[in-house]
Amino acid sequence: MIAGISIGVWLLFFIPIVIVTYRLRSIKEAAQLKSTTDERSMERIGSVQNLVYASIVVMALIGVALLFFLLKGTLYESHLKDWLNLTIRLMHITFGIAWIGASFYFVFLENSLNRTEDLRDELSGNLWAIHGGGFYYLEKYKLAPKKIPKELHWFKYEAYFTWLTGFALLIVVYYFNAKSYLIDTAVLDISPRLAIAFGIISLIWGWVIYDILCKKLIKKPVAFALIGGLFLIGFAWVYAHVFSGRAAYIHFGALLGTIMAANVFFVIIPGQKAMVAAAKNGLPPNPAHAVAAGMRSRHNNYFTFPVLFVMISNHFPSTYGNQYQWIVLIAISIGLAGIKHYLNLREQKKVSFFIMPISILLLFAVAFYTAPQSDRAKCTYDVTFQEVTTIINNKCVVCHSNEPKDDIWKVAPKGVMFNTAEDIFNHKDAIYQQVVVSKAMPFNNNQTGITEEERALIECWILTGAKTK
Ligand code: HEC
Repeated sequence: MIAGISIGVWLLFFIPIVIVTYRLRSIKEAAQLKSTTDERSMERIGSVQNLVYASIVVMALIGVALLFFLLKGTLYESHLKDWLNLTIRLMHITFGIAWIGASFYFVFLENSLNRTEDLRDELSGNLWAIHGGGFYYLEKYKLAPKKIPKELHWFKYEAYFTWLTGFALLIVVYYFNAKSYLIDTAVLDISPRLAIAFGIISLIWGWVIYDILCKKLIKKPVAFALIGGLFLIGFAWVYAHVFSGRAAYIHFGALLGTIMAANVFFVIIPGQKAMVAAAKNGLPPNPAHAVAAGMRSRHNNYFTFPVLFVMISNHFPSTYGNQYQWIVLIAISIGLAGIKHYLNLREQKKVSFFIMPISILLLFAVAFYTAPQSDRAKCTYDVTFQEVTTIINNKCVVCHSNEPKDDIWKVAPKGVMFNTAEDIFNHKDAIYQQVVVSKAMPFNNNQTGITEEERALIECWILTGAKTK
């Protein structure tokens, strides 16, 4: 039954792909044979092709959504979620690498251009490079070339697809499992619907406020940095007081990512289109477009390191599990943006003595500050391994064993199993992180109802040397 549905869904979008690509290829070939210069019809075929591909993607999404509702509540639900998570995550990091790679590359070009020697009048700089066994020579125009070349490469789909897959991942991981991942009832007891609505609306508002700040303060970089910084701190604080630790971090990253993608969509690309249109009509391009696009792309450049950190932060409960996790998040973001700033200065061959050491010092300070407090004094008697094993057996093994009895988890999450005493001992550091530091376990808002005393027992067992006898 399930296999039948899966194959049906697959055929649903696979057959159209084959037919459409085959048809379009022959139309394209016919057009190429007739006249190689018929740009218009080639363009039209191109957009039909894009439209068809977009509808295939939409159909695929509908197929998966149907499958999801068919499988909801069955044995296969968590398996499907796992594969959705895997597929979308892989796409997200791939598009993200392409986007950030392009962004780093162009900022590097901008920073490293030769702007003084042997330049034609219309150029602002040029650059020689060697890569993959080839020599490359690049020129940057002051505004636009007199004639726009027929083939002009744009960089935008990396950004759009990174955002789309990122948002899909947010839905699959955090919004589909809002009760377990998004909400921490100890932080704020809100309904999944409200939390999800808050998350989405916050991203929209974040962009709107940022955009207004950019426009109002375009000539005042210091004021922009100060007010913009306060605005980001405000969002980090609010997220920390609405969501679970890791969801708060992810939303902060999603906010930065949304701003970055919206910068491309609403400012950089429209500005570039206007510049191209002006050049095609023989008019001088409006330099304001170039200035705005340049500023937004610099902001994006500084956001990259913090966003990358947030993407991997959910593996590090010592950061998001901290009591003052929003301060930790802001400090790490500032430290990482500082390192990016240092790298940018270096590419421009400017010297800076303080930025790098201060940034690294800040990151060290965070690591120091988040270190567990070794409060051994409160451990008044030696906890036996037997006591710890009993707690784990009662509160963890429903999910973490080779045959989990839980309703949803049919395979041990993350492969973590506590079948034997040895298993428990081998995972002692991870147990400490999850149960004592971040309190992320037992999963699903403490599903198995571990008590504070039991957490303290595990803590003392670790602090007094995790003895097994
Ligand atoms: C309701 C099921 C459930 C219970 C009960 C549960 N866990 Fe988990 N555990 C999970 C899930 C789901 C994950 C994966 C979380 C994620 O996606 O990051 C997990 C992950 C973990 C990890 C790996 C974390 C990582 O990111 O590598 C450890 C360690 C862990 N749990 C320990 C425990 C301990 C100790 C207990 C008992 C105090 C416990 N769990 C109780 C479901 C559960």
